[in-house]
Amino acid sequence: MDQPKLENILLETKDGVATLTFSRPKALNALNEQTLRELKAALVWVEQHAAGREGAAQGEQIDVLILTGAGEKSFIAGADILEMKDKDPEAGEIFARLGQGVSRALELLPQPVIAAVNGFALGGGCEFAIACDFILASENAVFGQPEVALGIIPGFGGSVRLGRFVGQPRARELIYTGRKIKADEALRIGLANQVVPLAQLLPRAQEVAQEIRKNSPMAVAKSKRLMNQIYTMPIDQALREESLLFGGIFGSYDQREGMNAFAEKRKAAFRGE
Ligand code: CAA
Repeated sequence: MDQPKLENILLETKDGVATLTFSRPKALNALNEQTLRELKAALVWVEQHAAGREGAAQGEQIDVLILTGAGEKSFIAGADILEMKDKDPEAGEIFARLGQGVSRALELLPQPVIAAVNGFALGGGCEFAIACDFILASENAVFGQPEVALGIIPGFGGSVRLGRFVGQPRARELIYTGRKIKADEALRIGLANQVVPLAQLLPRAQEVAQEIRKNSPMAVAKSKRLMNQIYTMPIDQALREESLLFGGIFGSYDQREGMNAFAEKRKAAFRGE
């Protein structure tokens, strides 16, 4: 299955892990419309290679996706301000919907997505990082939602998702002040799961991805789907969803294999089904 044609994003695959690297060096990897469309196409390609899909059947299974930025300074410095500045309300809304659509596609991708934040993750950059399942950051990472300083508000889901990572009061403070925070503070408030030296960031992301890959990709995908679904549900409905999905897994190849392997004291060989 051919990879999509991309100019502002590099797509690499290795050992069952795809890495998408934002690369617009002249704008610190800021997101223009072309980059958003490329990311959308790349995510469709990655999804086609999830366990059980057509691309995976061709021997190119992708179990985990890593997002990062090219260079040593920036993950994504936000939406492209120069491209955005003369928009009218209609064009502004269309642009927000495009970015939101891509961030939602990241969230709904069957495979886990790790944001490897290697520098500035501002505005739309922070919003894409928090649409990932979790964030690993380099020591030089800087996070923030500085939109109010530009006279706008977050438009790619920041107002909706930031509070889920750091709690509402902290999200409000960050959005109203536009304050940029460094990696150590991001770690302390739960925005980043781990902080490592820049040179260690991608190797560490690969290690975490390989830890995930030891497990049944079907069970990992179901865990992700459930955790997305139950966010806004009342607790009894959420527990019901969990028990339905838990029950539905019994009898699958991976459930039998995982439990038989435990009983037989051997390593499981999962098929993702
Ligand atoms: N859009 C377009 N170009 C950008 C950009 C952006 N978001 N961020 C940086 N650039 C460009 C700069 O214009 C500059 O280009 P030139 O060399 O042609 O002048 C180049 O990248 C390098 O940037 P700086 O010289 O500013 O680098 P610095 O190290 O001095 O500062 C920075 C780095 C603090 C990230 C600064 O560039 C900055 O503040 N960028 C804007 C960050 C921002 O406000 N992001 C939010 C955007 S709005 C948004 O994202 C809305 C939304 O929710 C969807």
